[in-house]
Amino acid sequence: MPVLGLPWWKKGVIYQIAVPSFADSDGDGMGDLRGIIDRLDYLNDGTSSSLGVDAVWLTPVNASPMRDFGYDVSDYREINPRFGSMRDFEELLDACHRRDMKVIMDMVLNHTSSEHPWFVESRSSRDNPRRDWYVWRDGRAQGKPPNRWLAVVEGSAWEYDATTRQYYYHAFLPFQPDLNWRNPQVREEMLGVAGFWLDKGVDGFRLDLINFLYEDELLRDNPRRFGLRPYDWQRHLYDRSRPESLEAARELRRLTDRYPDRAMMGEVYTDDPRDAVAYLGGGDDALHLSFYLDFAERKWKAEAFRDSVGWLEAHLPPWGWPCYYLNNHDLPRSYTRLGRGGDAEARAKVAAAMLLTLRGTPIIYYGEEIGMPASRVPRKRMDDPIGRKFWPLPVGRDGSRTPMQWNGEKNAGFTSGEPRLPVDLSCGDRNVERQDGDPGSLLNWYRSLIRLRGEKPALRAGSYRALAGTPKGVFAYLREAGEERIAVFLNFTAREVTLPGLEVVPERGVWRRLISTLGGDGDGVDLQRVRLRPDEALVLERA
Ligand code: NOJ
Repeated sequence: MPVLGLPWWKKGVIYQIAVPSFADSDGDGMGDLRGIIDRLDYLNDGTSSSLGVDAVWLTPVNASPMRDFGYDVSDYREINPRFGSMRDFEELLDACHRRDMKVIMDMVLNHTSSEHPWFVESRSSRDNPRRDWYVWRDGRAQGKPPNRWLAVVEGSAWEYDATTRQYYYHAFLPFQPDLNWRNPQVREEMLGVAGFWLDKGVDGFRLDLINFLYEDELLRDNPRRFGLRPYDWQRHLYDRSRPESLEAARELRRLTDRYPDRAMMGEVYTDDPRDAVAYLGGGDDALHLSFYLDFAERKWKAEAFRDSVGWLEAHLPPWGWPCYYLNNHDLPRSYTRLGRGGDAEARAKVAAAMLLTLRGTPIIYYGEEIGMPASRVPRKRMDDPIGRKFWPLPVGRDGSRTPMQWNGEKNAGFTSGEPRLPVDLSCGDRNVERQDGDPGSLLNWYRSLIRLRGEKPALRAGSYRALAGTPKGVFAYLREAGEERIAVFLNFTAREVTLPGLEVVPERGVWRRLISTLGGDGDGVDLQRVRLRPDEALVLERA
């Protein structure tokens, strides 16, 4: 079977855990590592009653003042004490490995917290030995930053520091100063950090803002252009996706390759998907997986997803491998976002079927499998600096970071204390315990799809071919490996649709229903008369 030759990061399903929000073991209202250990059976206990995922990606667990959910690191070689100790981390690693699960660590290499001792030193004087570890420059003129570069979040990317009367560069928020990767000591230190965790046994990294590591050495201004938000009014030619950042990804790959079976997936923040593809290198020599926003930002339209997948399938290099997700800690939850204006539950099932039957590594975000909705977090409970800054605009990210809903008890079983963010109101209805016992639940649908993916090499490793000639609102494709042929039909509409037979699947033979949102598994299906019911996801196999 071809699938046997595939590495774990191609054949497995990844589950993203937002560590602060998943499970709290000590009642301080903050999720922690021990909480995760206690819940591993839910993720994978080796039987079909668990979710059956193959890897977890943990949002940053390094020491951090947590002003940005941990994406502001103050010590790369320590575990955040709010999450536990190094021993807890080692125990989690071990516990996952014993279950044959991999652990992917979030690595924030572009910037540190402004509270990191390196930055505290760096900003203390112009001649401090760590001065050059960050990007410091004089202003162009009195009160004018060195150039017009913008921070992703808002305003100039330069912050004036009165102590030394210079500006420092921050691509994201002002308390996240960018490291100066042009300094060889910085590069070496950060590679050392990666090596430190690889030595510990982590199986891979999720690399935050990997295409932001380097900026143009001459600090050239970006050309102007039209865009929706101020950040988009510039073409980001000089402040992101610089060739040196790709080179750094290659260097990280050389390091990772010294360890068996490790993988790196990088967040390529861009509006040009070609950038993301570029990070797969010029011959399997850079990232293993690279992801960008396109797929997760599409509207509920069959054609939109088909185009997104089609683009990637057409542009990936031969060694490239797709990677899809519908949710993460930065996006409004898909249950609400994609469900708006329709039957959210039915759509969530169609979306899950797509995610888990496409060619590529699927990433599930905690709570997605029980349909946690986009939550409304009141202003006074907000934690996300972006939410607080732009309130009442609904751009904050707390709504997708509320506590995992384990059961219908107080605080949804997340904590015995006061949760760091309020539990969503849906928790009485939508929780793991409740859905566990309901065969028709979203949770059991995810479980079935993951199991099916595990059983069918065509789904994990097979080729992908979009079926042409489908009616509007239907996304359909074939997955093939060896003799195994699987056809997936996704009805994005609330109407019943009949497919025009041979034009769609140009072959005869008997097909069998593997799974459908509407039941009837195992039934034979005449491919010349496929009838999709409203909001149906239907997966068939040639018998
Ligand atoms: C991208 C992360 O996904 C986001 O949560 C974070 O705020 C920024 N990078 C800055 O590290």
